[in-house]
Amino acid sequence: MLVHRNIFTLWLLLLLHVSGSAAKRQLFGRQRNPVPQEGDVRLFDGGAADGRVEIYHDGTWGTVCDDDWDMAEAQVVCRQLGFPGANSVVFGKIYKKASGPIWLDDLKCKGTEKYLSTCAFTNWGATDCSHKEDVGVLCETSANVTNVDYLYSLDHSISLSDERGQMFDSGNSCDFFISVQSLTGNTQEDGTPEVVNVTICAHKSILLQFPLFNASKGISGITVDIAQSCQPHFSSFIRYIYTRKVDVNSSSAQCLHWMAYTFGVKQLMEDTGRLFSKILPEDASFHTQVSLYNYATETQDWVLQENCAQYLAWNYQNLTMSPAWTQLSIELLGSLLLRSDLVVPDEYFVLQSVESWITEKGNSTSLETQVDLLSLIRFPMIPVEALYDLESNSSLYSTHRSVYRDNVLKAFQFNFLLFSNLISNPKFNREDDDYRPRIYTAKPWSAALPRLQTDNRNRNHYNQYNPTTIVLNTPVHNSLIFKTNKIYWASNVFSNQQECSNRGVRCESFPSARLAPQSVVSQWSNIVFHNRLLLMCQGKYIFQVQDFKNNMAVNATQVPAYPCPDDQYSYRFVVRPEYV
Ligand SMILES: *[C@@H]1O[C@H](CO)[C@@H](O)[C@H](O)[C@H]1NC(C)=O
Ligand SMILES: *[C@@H]1O[C@H](CO)[C@@H](O)[C@H](O)[C@H]1NC(C)=O
Ligand SMILES: *[C@@H]1O[C@H](CO)[C@@H](O)[C@H](O)[C@H]1NC(C)=O
Ligand SMILES: *[C@@H]1O[C@H](CO)[C@@H](O)[C@H](O)[C@H]1NC(C)=O
Ligand SMILES: *[C@@H]1O[C@H](CO)[C@@H](O)[C@H](O)[C@H]1NC(C)=O
Ligand SMILES: *[C@@H]1O[C@H](CO)[C@@H](O)[C@H](O)[C@H]1NC(C)=O
Ligand SMILES: *[C@@H]1O[C@H](CO)[C@@H](O)[C@H](O)[C@H]1NC(C)=O
Ligand SMILES: *[C@@H]1O[C@H](CO)[C@@H](O)[C@H](O)[C@H]1NC(C)=O
Repeated sequence: MLVHRNIFTLWLLLLLHVSGSAAKRQLFGRQRNPVPQEGDVRLFDGGAADGRVEIYHDGTWGTVCDDDWDMAEAQVVCRQLGFPGANSVVFGKIYKKASGPIWLDDLKCKGTEKYLSTCAFTNWGATDCSHKEDVGVLCETSANVTNVDYLYSLDHSISLSDERGQMFDSGNSCDFFISVQSLTGNTQEDGTPEVVNVTICAHKSILLQFPLFNASKGISGITVDIAQSCQPHFSSFIRYIYTRKVDVNSSSAQCLHWMAYTFGVKQLMEDTGRLFSKILPEDASFHTQVSLYNYATETQDWVLQENCAQYLAWNYQNLTMSPAWTQLSIELLGSLLLRSDLVVPDEYFVLQSVESWITEKGNSTSLETQVDLLSLIRFPMIPVEALYDLESNSSLYSTHRSVYRDNVLKAFQFNFLLFSNLISNPKFNREDDDYRPRIYTAKPWSAALPRLQTDNRNRNHYNQYNPTTIVLNTPVHNSLIFKTNKIYWASNVFSNQQECSNRGVRCESFPSARLAPQSVVSQWSNIVFHNRLLLMCQGKYIFQVQDFKNNMAVNATQVPAYPCPDDQYSYRFVVRPEYV
C-alpha cells in the first residue's frame, strides 16, 4: 500500500532523532544527559519543516518574539537546522502552550549567519512580548524527487490469532509495566532534566519470547529511555510483539529498527532495515542518507552502514552539491574517500571537493586531519593538465606545500615512467590504491547510452534501447605513456534474444549490456580492465553499479539495490584499466 505524502516529514524527524541520539546510547541507564547545546534551535508544534522557533539558552528552550522578524532571520534558523533556506515567516499562529521564557526579541540578522544566536539582539530574555507573538517559520525543503512516502504492512504473524492484539489493546490482566521515558531537553527549576513518562502495561507471558525485556526476572517492569521522536512508536512496537504485524512508514522505520535492535527482535529489525534502501534515494538533500549512516554506525549495523556508504559513493557528485555536504563528519568523508566505487567525473573533482569541504569547515579541522584527508586523494589518477595547474589553482597548496609536492611527484612518475621502471622504484607499491581508478565518468573513460522513448503500446515489458552501438575510444591506461595507444570499445544494450543473436552474443536476461574491446587487448599483459556499468534512475541518481564478466554486465547485487521503475533507467559505461 502506498500513501502519498511529502517525504520531507522524514528528514526533520531524522534530524530530531540525531539530536536525541545521546538518549539512545544510554537506553538502560540514565547516567548521561543529552542536553542540547547552547544556541541550538528547533521548530516546535508544526509539521515537517515548520513550527514555532525555539532556541536553547541557559538550559531551557525558549521562544522568539516576532518584532523585527523577517526573512533574514528565518533563513538563519532554517539553515542552522540543515534546510536549504526559508520559505516564509509565520506570524500570530497559536501554537501549543509555550511555558518557557521568551529568549529573543528585536533580532537583527544579516541572513548569512550560521547560528541564530550570533545575530544582534538586545539581551537574552529582554522583551516586552507575550507568547502570542511567538514567531514561526516554514523552511524550504529541497526539490521534489519522488514525493512518495511508503507505508508498509509487515506481517510475520503466520498463525497467530488476532486475539493477541485485543489482549494488548485491552490490557486485561496485564502484569508487566514498561515505563517509557524521554527527555524533553528542558531543565526544571530544581536543575534536573524534564522527563515525559508513558507507561504501557503488557503481559509477561508474551514478552518472555524476547529475553531482553527481562520479563522472566521476577520483576514487575522495566524502564526504557528513548528519544522523544520515537516515543509515539513504542506502543506499535510492543503491539508487534503480540501480533507480529505492524505498519511502517518512513518516519517510524528508524525508531522501529532501533527498538527491534535494542530488544533483539531480529525479523523486525531486518525488515525495517530493508525499507531504508527504499527511503535512501528519496531525499535529494542527502540529509536522510547521512543521518542513516550515522545511525547505522551508532547501532553497529554494518549492513545498513555499507548500504548508506555505497549510495553516497555512487552519488558522490550530487552529495558534494547538497546541503548535507559541509555537515559530513570527517569519519564519513574519510571512509568515502577510501572507496574505489566513488562515481566522479575524474580524480581532480575529488581533490576539489575535499579542498572545498576543508575550506568550508574553516578552523574546525586540524592541519593533521587535512593532511589525512588529502592523502586519500589518488594523485596519480589526476589528469596531467590539472597536475600542472595545481600549484596555482589549489586553495590549500600553500598550506600543505610539501604534501602536494610529494604527491605531484608521485603522480608524474606514474605518468612518465614505464611500468617496468615504476615497479623498480622501491617506493612504488602496486597494492597502493593511489594507482587504481575510481569510477570516472568524464571523457575519455565513459559514455552514456541514449535511450529511445518508450512506447506504451509496446508489448515488450522492457524499454527499447537504441540498437546502434556506441563506440568509446580510450587509451589503454591512465598513464600518459599510453596516450596514443587507443582501444575502441563497442557498447550495446540488447532488449531481446533477436538482438543478441544478430551479434552472436549469448544473453541470459533482458535487457543485457555488453562492453567489448574492438581490438586485441592481450598484448597489454600488464593491464587489466575492471569496467563498470552504471544504472541511473530518472536521470537523478545512480541506483546500481554492475561489473562485467566476459564483456557482459553482471548483476552483482542480488537484491535490487534501490527501487527504480523498469522503464526509467539509463546506462553509462565506464572503462577502468589497472596495472597488474
Ligand atoms: C513539488 O511538487 C509539487 C506537487 O507535485 C508541485 O506543486 C511543486 O511545485 C513542486 N516543487 C518544486 C520545487 O518543484
Ligand atoms: C514514570 O511512571 C511510572 C509509573 O507511573 C513511575 O513508577 C515512575 O517513577 C515514573 N518515572 C518518572 C521519571 O516520573
Ligand atoms: C535486564 O536485566 C539486565 C541484568 O539484570 C540489565 O542489565 C538490563 O538493563 C535489563 N534490561 C532492561 C530493559 O531493563
Ligand atoms: C507514520 O505512521 C504514524 C503512525 O504509525 C503516524 O502517526 C505518522 O503520521 C505517519 N507519518 C507519516 C509521515 O506518514
Ligand atoms: C581561524 O581562526 C582565526 C583565529 O581564531 C580567525 O582569525 C580566522 O578568521 C579563522 N579562519 C576561518 C576560516 O574561520
Ligand atoms: C586553473 O585556473 C585557471 C585560471 O582560473 C584556469 O584557466 C584553468 O583551467 C584551471 N585549471 C584546471 C585544471 O582547472
Ligand atoms: C543530481 O545532479 C543532477 C545534475 O545537477 C540533477 O539533474 C539531479 O536531479 C541530481 N539528483 C538528485 C537526486 O538530486
Ligand atoms: C538484479 O537482480 C535482482 C535479483 O535477481 C533483480 O531483482 C534486479 O531487478 C536486477 N537488477 C537489474 C537492474 O536487472
